[in-house]
Amino acid sequence: MRKKFVAGNWKMHGSHSANAELLSGILAARPFACDVAVCVPFPYLGEVAVALAGSDVRWGAQDCSAHEKGAYTGEVSAAMLSEFGCRYVIVGHSERRHYHGESDQLVADKAKAVLARGLTPIVCVGETLGQREQGTAHATVKRQLSAVIHALGHCVGEMVVAYEPVWAIGTGVTATPEQAQEMHSLIRAQLHAATGHADAMKILYGGSMKPENAGSLLAQQDIDGGLIGGAALKAADFVAICRAAG
Ligand code: 13P
Repeated sequence: MRKKFVAGNWKMHGSHSANAELLSGILAARPFACDVAVCVPFPYLGEVAVALAGSDVRWGAQDCSAHEKGAYTGEVSAAMLSEFGCRYVIVGHSERRHYHGESDQLVADKAKAVLARGLTPIVCVGETLGQREQGTAHATVKRQLSAVIHALGHCVGEMVVAYEPVWAIGTGVTATPEQAQEMHSLIRAQLHAATGHADAMKILYGGSMKPENAGSLLAQQDIDGGLIGGAALKAADFVAICRAAG
């Protein structure tokens, strides 16, 4: 059986005081039966590493450069994230695809850069509302995933995939457990065709996951955890989702 995994994506939220309160609330609620991580803004990685060191709560970043190093002003490399003890790096979040024009190829290159440093990419895929209404949701997700599968080659099995339908992110509209399960099983089939051993791979759901709906989503056969946005900013909500995953 796959162990469940719940990761918080803080997005561009936080402050020294808010982070300290949130992390102490999470730490106080241990132990968790599932794996738990928080993906935080770059400037807070140092303090988060200090706060979580010695615990089983992992941390990570929300993006990284596809380049190893060099004249890329404003970018942060996977090697730097590794020095801060990151275990995970989110790549290809729909907000980066949308606001920063990240292509499937760039996302795949980022995932490769993350793996090359021994970190685990959490690769986000998901369709927009328009694509779902046009009946191209599956083709969209398949295309996004294909680029990463192609780039990672024999290391495909080491990534975590997050299915995040764009229409469910930050909207309060959640995919039904059946809608999410349907896409997750298609994703697993594609991963299985590529690796031959996708049974062990984790596929997270993200998009308005809250304490109230986490249980029914996480009960689905191919939903192995959650990538949590808004509800990851309140310790009580995040902890409740972790408990639902346990
Ligand atoms: P919300 O949980 O706020 O919908 O965000 C989901 C998300 O984008 C996680 O990466």
